[in-house]
Amino acid sequence: MARVYFPRVKEDDNLGILPVPKSREIYYKRWKAQQERHWTNEMKVTPLLPVDQKHWNELEHSNRPLYDLLTNIILFFKCSDYYAGQISARHILPYCENVWIAAMYSLHSSMETVHNESYSMLADCRFSDAAENARVERIALAKPSIGKMINWAKRYVDDDGTTADDDPDYLAVMLLQFICFEGIFFTGWFAVIYAVKAKGKFPALCGANEYIAQDEWLHVLNNTCVYLGLSRQLQQSKVHGIFAEAVTIAKEFLHDGMSGDIPEFNLHRADLAEYIELVSNIILKGLNYEPLFPNARLKLPFVKNKDLYTFASIHESNDPNYREAVSTGAAVDPFEDL
Ligand SMILES: [Fe+2]
Ligand SMILES: [Fe+2]
Repeated sequence: MARVYFPRVKEDDNLGILPVPKSREIYYKRWKAQQERHWTNEMKVTPLLPVDQKHWNELEHSNRPLYDLLTNIILFFKCSDYYAGQISARHILPYCENVWIAAMYSLHSSMETVHNESYSMLADCRFSDAAENARVERIALAKPSIGKMINWAKRYVDDDGTTADDDPDYLAVMLLQFICFEGIFFTGWFAVIYAVKAKGKFPALCGANEYIAQDEWLHVLNNTCVYLGLSRQLQQSKVHGIFAEAVTIAKEFLHDGMSGDIPEFNLHRADLAEYIELVSNIILKGLNYEPLFPNARLKLPFVKNKDLYTFASIHESNDPNYREAVSTGAAVDPFEDL
């Protein structure tokens, strides 16, 4: 069976001299978009950690459900960014013949290391005692939904040796599962941190979240662009199966990672669940598939329309009616302020 690679361009056929891309070379643009987003924790997070430490101490006594929820989220992210970096570097890069796609995933992997460092610092700031930190981390990562989300990505890192040589759908499935990992699993928890930001708390966590959430949308976009460039894409029914499973797992976290609604911060499980459905619709639309949850609407007051639009706008060049398509019949148009 011929080996399947990600799309390549004719200009790649050179002697190590980078081709001058045509202005329409989409992967070159995706690489440039990643370059423009490079940031460091020294710039964005470290100076604000002492304030977060003070807020952790206050929150432990004032709002224990939120304290536990944020702990679970940070520890999940800390672990998941490690696996996201591993998938980019070890499981996608070997298939990248196109120099711009390879450069894109190199930066993707590099940024995951920055995210991993962010969450390690944010987690360490929660407790000064390393042993207590490790104990809480074990409890959080033992939660079934967190285990399922991590195993979603870990299956590639602990792979059984299957490659694109064995399965013609291997690359397509891996890209879609990676998209679900970074798009669906992360999105609801980014929103929780938006709710914290709306109350002016945890500047280091919220500052990092702003940057990381935008990075993750960009990663979802980049994976989407590569998927759309594959010569072999999946039937909608198979894609829907992957997305439905991811949404189900994400919703499970709302029960075992969250002890209940937190009305003081406008955090209600039902609204977060619907938000996850809405995001899956947006991503599916970008991939040229039908939505799974056509009735899903944005009900989270702390999610700014621009947070969704950042991703939606990516596809507008392909689909000028995208905004309307996403919000058809919506009681709340997520893009109405734009
Ligand atoms: Fe990340
Ligand atoms: Fe990512």
